[in-house]
Amino acid sequence: MKLLDAEIVNNIRIGEGLYKMEFFSPYLCKNFKPGQFINIKCSPEGLFDPFLRRPFSIYDIENNFNVVSVLYLVRGKGTKYLSGLEKGDNINFCGPLGNPLSFENDKKVLLIGGGIGIAPLYLMAKKLSGQGALVYFLCGFKESNFRLLEKDFLRLNADYKIYCEDGMWGEVGIVTDEFASGKNKFEDYKVYCCGPLEMLKKLQAIFSKYNNTVIAILEEKMACGIGVCMGCAVKIKQKGGFAYKKVCSDGPSFNLEEVLFG
Ligand SMILES: Cc1cc2nc3c(=O)[nH]c(=O)nc-3n(C[C@H](O)[C@H](O)[C@H](O)COP(=O)(O)OP(=O)(O)OC[C@H]3O[C@@H](n4cnc5c(N)ncnc54)[C@H](O)[C@@H]3O)c2cc1C
Ligand code: FES
Repeated sequence: MKLLDAEIVNNIRIGEGLYKMEFFSPYLCKNFKPGQFINIKCSPEGLFDPFLRRPFSIYDIENNFNVVSVLYLVRGKGTKYLSGLEKGDNINFCGPLGNPLSFENDKKVLLIGGGIGIAPLYLMAKKLSGQGALVYFLCGFKESNFRLLEKDFLRLNADYKIYCEDGMWGEVGIVTDEFASGKNKFEDYKVYCCGPLEMLKKLQAIFSKYNNTVIAILEEKMACGIGVCMGCAVKIKQKGGFAYKKVCSDGPSFNLEEVLFG
């Protein structure tokens, strides 16, 4: 893990409130592993408002160009600041943080992303399909503001399906509709998911009936990002009860069936 500056190569709005920032980072290209995240300083050099760095997944890595991209939604002060940065500006980040995922025995993989939860899954889809795994990428969005990402999905060597609530893209509905029939089309798939809590809770209920291993990437609000403050603690089931685990340093990936949602 390093604290580094990186030059922005591109920071473009690709939909309502949705941006893709590309920056030059040979260090992350070499050292970042899917499942990890970075903490970006979201204020100008020498200023600290907001004081805390903000956690982001890496959406894509272009090794040939040493370029890394982050897909982000503007939510508050930090992401508003990021959205105003331009090509040639610098960001300061800390990372990689969190624990990498191991894809060693993953031959068939179902990736389920809701909204901005697709951000960490895209790189996983690329890596997994690159190592020969059969990948099915299931994405659900409220609105079609993510639509320009379809050109990225088309570049993947993976099948994908889009659910969109506004009916303007893919199938009308939500991502969990895929399991509405009660039949598990993905019996022998390892599952990774990331998205809103409501989606994760529904997936937990759905997969409680099946034997798949389901890994959830949690996106709790964070403060330090390095396991010191307990700001990101979640309850994880353990024999006879539960234990508090830190999403930043014990995660951010956990076995979905063990997560106790509050
Ligand atoms: C490991 C990890 C990876 C993440 N990856 C991405 C990513 O790739 N792209 C992306 O857009 N976002 C990602 N997030 C969420 C991102 O960190 C927050 O959106 C960001 O911190 C908001 O900062 P802000 O200053 O703009 O908003 P704030 O002023 O801090 O908050 C504005 C609003 O956003 C909500 N919010 C803040 N943090 C989160 C969060 N973690 N999850 C859900 N809602 C939140 C707040 O409740 C509030 O309503 C990730 C979070 C984690 C923990
Ligand atoms: S954010 Fe501080 S312990 Fe996780």
